[in-house]
Amino acid sequence: MAGDHVGDHDGPIQPPASFVEGANVTEDLREQFEREGPDAWSRAADTLDWSEPYDEVLRERDGALRWFDGGRLNASYNCVDRHLADRKNHVAIRWEGTTGESRTYTYLDLYHEVNEAAAGLRSLGVEAGDVVTLYMPVMPELPVVMLACARLGALHNVVFAGFSADELAERLDGTGSEYLVTCDGYYRRGTAVNQKNKADNARMAADHDVETVVVTRLDDDLYLSDDHVDYGELLDDHAGATVDPVERAADDPLFVIYTSGTTGEPDQVVHTTGGYLSYVTWTGESVLDIKPSDTYWCAADVAWITGHSYMVYAPLALGTTTLLYEGAPDQSEKDRLWELVERHRVDVFYTASTVVRAFVKWGEEHPAAHDLSSLRLLGTVGEPIDPRTWTWYREHVGGGDAPVVDTWWQTETGGILVSTLPAVDPMKPGAAGPPLPGHEVSVVDYTGDPVETGEPGHLAVTEPWPGMPRGLAEAAVADDWTYVTSDRAVVDGDGYVTFLGREDDTVAVGDTAYGPATLESAVIEVGGVAEAAVVESETAGEKAVAYVCTERDRQGDDALRARIENHVADRLGPTARFEAVIFTPELPKTHSGKIMRRLLSAIADGEEYGDTSALRNPETVGEIETVSRDD
Ligand code: WTA
Repeated sequence: MAGDHVGDHDGPIQPPASFVEGANVTEDLREQFEREGPDAWSRAADTLDWSEPYDEVLRERDGALRWFDGGRLNASYNCVDRHLADRKNHVAIRWEGTTGESRTYTYLDLYHEVNEAAAGLRSLGVEAGDVVTLYMPVMPELPVVMLACARLGALHNVVFAGFSADELAERLDGTGSEYLVTCDGYYRRGTAVNQKNKADNARMAADHDVETVVVTRLDDDLYLSDDHVDYGELLDDHAGATVDPVERAADDPLFVIYTSGTTGEPDQVVHTTGGYLSYVTWTGESVLDIKPSDTYWCAADVAWITGHSYMVYAPLALGTTTLLYEGAPDQSEKDRLWELVERHRVDVFYTASTVVRAFVKWGEEHPAAHDLSSLRLLGTVGEPIDPRTWTWYREHVGGGDAPVVDTWWQTETGGILVSTLPAVDPMKPGAAGPPLPGHEVSVVDYTGDPVETGEPGHLAVTEPWPGMPRGLAEAAVADDWTYVTSDRAVVDGDGYVTFLGREDDTVAVGDTAYGPATLESAVIEVGGVAEAAVVESETAGEKAVAYVCTERDRQGDDALRARIENHVADRLGPTARFEAVIFTPELPKTHSGKIMRRLLSAIADGEEYGDTSALRNPETVGEIETVSRDD
């Protein structure tokens, strides 16, 4: 039996008229897609410049679905060169570092450095189809080298800077990557990390030789072994060089990326040049409402798919200014992000929903201390956002009336797939929204049969879309193909999807199964609670354990514990009881901001939890263990 339910949203909420007036997309395109079928996806392809026009929007050829088949293009041309004619002096990248420094690249600056980097990589032997691994924090050279690879038709494989040498080695081997671009080091919460040292260890562990280029980020007294090419010198050697963008077929690969692996082993996903780039550019325009005149900020890590799609490719293809911030949201001051929004007059702000819950925890005085009136649209991604946090975000960051798009998608989907179109679809806090125009989704049971409206099940995507990765495009030729995601969801009578969490994170309490989001949303409704993660504890006999972070000025005490337990029982029925409610200052999160529920489960069961280098905040794990044990 499944205990998830929906239906008590506060909405629907309409966007303000001022937003609708200026929005990129103001008509419901669903009818057009119904009328034209996949041909309507030409809208997405039209956001790009093609050196060779495509023959057909979608066709099956040689055992795979092919989007925009026959078309040829280059992604770096689309993100850089095509803007030179009318916006060469427009700012492409504004970068803010962790230690107060900042850098600005116009589209012309970007053009020069991408070309020099491409010439440099080519001189080292990089060719179309090679895989170049990147291992750096959020610094301008990361998108520059990504675009340099794209210019050459080489695939990039970006690995989170915080990952261990072992994880890097696995990814070098897994992709057969013979080139690595890394940095000397960087500051992580004020401490210098010797990144090159980790990279050297990874190279020693790899099963093949890896040519390495090192960007100077710290220029500190870090010891660096000297078996590498210096990025600055490589660029100097190719000063003023230009490299013709290598024409790629629409479904030639653009990059490889690993899935987050919060629940299972990370998988490799390969995205295509034409389909992927069209899809992220179109969704950036229609969902995130990105305009060339904006300062647009996706506060995330470039290494995450969110960073690839919506920090680099979509904003640059659209010719806007993308703000890149190196630090964690709470790197120094708790109002650092709001200070940046105010200083840069940011128009659109997009981040992980778990980051928004951290904002709630730190307190509303931080956004209140800054003028955030430039913000026109807010977005969230990565995990469900509960109605209370959603409302807080709109209220305290969005000035009470900015639309908030809760965007559901995955590494595998390339770009946003379920979300409201901000000027078209009313918002229902807690529900991500309907599938975007052109998409069909269905909720199915474990045998693949659709369930009744309002019943929970697995979300399945039943129509192909241009951002589908290569593997899915091959699988999709089967007649009965659907892409069953590992997410549990409910669809309401209006077609709005509420996400309940990953299937592997389902919490069984007695004979009732809950998506973690259902239980966590109920916990977060209790005044004083900011964040919550509910996991299953096997040693407690399949019982639920709730890890709870309170708002900054609230105590996690027995009174609050009792209120949480009573509220959850009121909300979900008497079987929804927790074995324990454990107050903790933080939840373990991955570099992309996802809560590592698997690790919390292991802690609750007193088990080994292994390597924590996939975490953004590994230092909190010991503390969580201690509070868990004391409870
Ligand atoms: C989850 C992130 C609910 C979901 C772009 C998905 C979400 C996984 C949302 C993919 C959302 C992402 N509401 N859940 N708005 N966005 N998810 O590959 O479980 O890092 O399957 O891609 O994040 O995570 P990934």
